[in-house]
Amino acid sequence: MDGNGRWAKERGLPRIEGHRQGVESVRDVVRTAGKIGVGYLTLYAFSAENWSRPRLEVSALMRLLEKYLHDEIDELNENNVRLEAIGCLKDLPERVQKQLQKTRQATAQNDGMVLVLALSYGSRREITDAVRDCARLVKEGKIAVSDINETLISNHLYTHSYPDPDLLIRTSGEMRISNFLLWQISYAELVVAPALWPDFRKDQFLGAISEYGRRDRRFGGI
Ligand code: IPE
Ligand code: MG
Repeated sequence: MDGNGRWAKERGLPRIEGHRQGVESVRDVVRTAGKIGVGYLTLYAFSAENWSRPRLEVSALMRLLEKYLHDEIDELNENNVRLEAIGCLKDLPERVQKQLQKTRQATAQNDGMVLVLALSYGSRREITDAVRDCARLVKEGKIAVSDINETLISNHLYTHSYPDPDLLIRTSGEMRISNFLLWQISYAELVVAPALWPDFRKDQFLGAISEYGRRDRRFGGI
């Protein structure tokens, strides 16, 4: 989700106003994705690198996140959406961690779409953690070096219980991955949408889905 700051700047508004509008896009996209039968939707809401933003912007984002997690419970339940999170969740403020826990529990019984929020998430960190876990298993004699394969590594990523994404959408026209699910997107289709995230709503989302539908996926075959 990229472009909140630019959206605000274009209107002479503070950046946080862009983030606020961005929450509306989250609502719209989550609702639409659930309706059309998407199984898993992962939103890159806050990267490990985003901590380097000005302190005031970070705290405003954390407050918005806490509010979203609180306010959205009913809507998530109405739409049968289960909320989960990946990333270095221990880095989040205590209040956000508690609310995250509450929202997870309140939606845990839903068996429709899984909405995964990537929070304080960095893919290199995730892969490094997985490698460390595998090394530990070898050291403890639980596995042999030859047991380390792609499945084992995948099973030690934060995303171990989710399938790899079929489609990756980046908004605001930027042609970058920015440390997002590097391992998992090996065969994902990439769609770069020109819209800034606050302008990315149902129509833009369905547009990206139909572009995905026109792709010919060969997974290295012919
Ligand atoms: C939203 O967009 C991403 C978040 C971290 C919430 P940006 O804040 O990166 O917006 P731009 O790139 O400055 O326009
Ligand atoms: Mg940005």
